[in-house]
Amino acid sequence: MSNIQASLSKTKQEMESVGITDNIRLSDDGNSIVIIDQTRLPGTLEYKNITNLEGAYQAIKKLEVRGAPAIGIFAGYTMYVLSRKDSSLDFDAFYRNFTANREYLNSSRPTAVNLSWALKRMDQVVCDNRDRPVEKIVQLLKEEAIRIHNEDIEMCLKICEYGLSLLKDGDGVLTHCNAGPLATSYGTAQGPFLLAKARGMNIRVFADETRPLLQGARLTAFELQRAGVNVTLICDNMASLVMRNGWINACFVGCDRIAANGDFANKIGTSGVAILAKHYGIPVYSLGPTSTIDMNCPDGDHIRIELRDPDEIRTMWYAQPMAPEDVKCYNPSFDVTDHELLSGIVTEKGIVYPPFDVNLKKLFDEE
Ligand code: MRU
Repeated sequence: MSNIQASLSKTKQEMESVGITDNIRLSDDGNSIVIIDQTRLPGTLEYKNITNLEGAYQAIKKLEVRGAPAIGIFAGYTMYVLSRKDSSLDFDAFYRNFTANREYLNSSRPTAVNLSWALKRMDQVVCDNRDRPVEKIVQLLKEEAIRIHNEDIEMCLKICEYGLSLLKDGDGVLTHCNAGPLATSYGTAQGPFLLAKARGMNIRVFADETRPLLQGARLTAFELQRAGVNVTLICDNMASLVMRNGWINACFVGCDRIAANGDFANKIGTSGVAILAKHYGIPVYSLGPTSTIDMNCPDGDHIRIELRDPDEIRTMWYAQPMAPEDVKCYNPSFDVTDHELLSGIVTEKGIVYPPFDVNLKKLFDEE
C-alpha cells in the first residue's frame, strides 16, 4: 500500500468512527438501491429500497436522497438496477430503454451537475461497449456505478483533510444546509468537522437551520450531534449576529454546481451568508468534488435554478399550515454566490484560490 493510500485508509477509519456512511448502497441481490430516507430524519432512521424508475425519480424529486454527490451516486446505481432488467434484450431495444430511463431521471432536479455527470458516465460505458453482449454491458455498468461511489469516497476523504487544514482547534465555523455524509459518501463541507472530532479537536459549528426544508436543522444538526461535534443550531436570520459576536472564523458550505469563473450554486441562502461574511471579514470556502465543477458553464447566470413547490413555504414539514393558504410564494431552491465573495474552493485535488477562472482551468489541464 502506498503512503497516500495508507493515509486515506486511516482517514476513512476515523470518519467511519463518527459518521453515517451507509446512506446509499446496492442491495445484495442487485435488484434495488438501499437509501436512508432523508425526509424522515431526524425522527426516524429508515432505510428504503428503490426498485424502479418512478421510485428513483421520486426519491430524488422529493429529497429522500439529496445532496449533489449523493444524487450522482444514486443515479449510477439506478441505471445499473434498471439495465439489469433489460439484459435479455438486443442492443437496440436495450439502448432505447436505457436512454429513456436516463433522460427521465436527469429531469428530476436541474441544479446539481453531479446527476447529469454520473448519467453521462453510465451512458459512455454503454456507447463504448455497444459491440459486446448486453449482459456484459450490464456487468460493466455495475462496475462503473461502484467506481463512481468509490471515487466519491476517496474525493470526500481528501476534501475533509484539505478542509481541516484550514481550521485550528477551538475555531468557530458557520455552515449552511447539509453537506455531510448523508449528502455525499463521507462528507464535504461538514466532513472536516467530523474528522476534527475523530482527532479530538474542538470545532464549534454553527449550523443554519436552512429554510424552507430545514436540511441544516434536520440533517446537519443530527449528523454532527450524533457524532459528538460541538454544534449549535441557529435560524438563518441569526448568522449576522453570531458573526458580529466574533464567534465565526470561517464559513464552510457545499456546492451543487461550480461555474468556470468560480460562481457557484448552493442551497438558497448561501449567497446571503457569503455577503455577510464579507462584511465581517470572514473567509468563505466552498467544499466539493471536481465532479461538481462544470467547466462548460461560464458563470452563475448560466446555472439553472430549481423552483420548488410553494407548499414547502406555506406548510410546515410536519404538514401544519404556517402561512395563509394560497398566499403567493417564491421558492427557489438554490442561489448563486458570486466568485468575488469566495476565498477558496476545496476539492480533492487541493484548495483552489482566486483567480478562479485561471486556476480552475489549470486544475483540469493538469489531468
Ligand atoms: O436541495 P438539497 O438538499 O439537495 O441541497 C443540497 C445542497 O445545497 C448542498 O449544500 C450541496 O448539494 C452540497 S452536498 C455535498
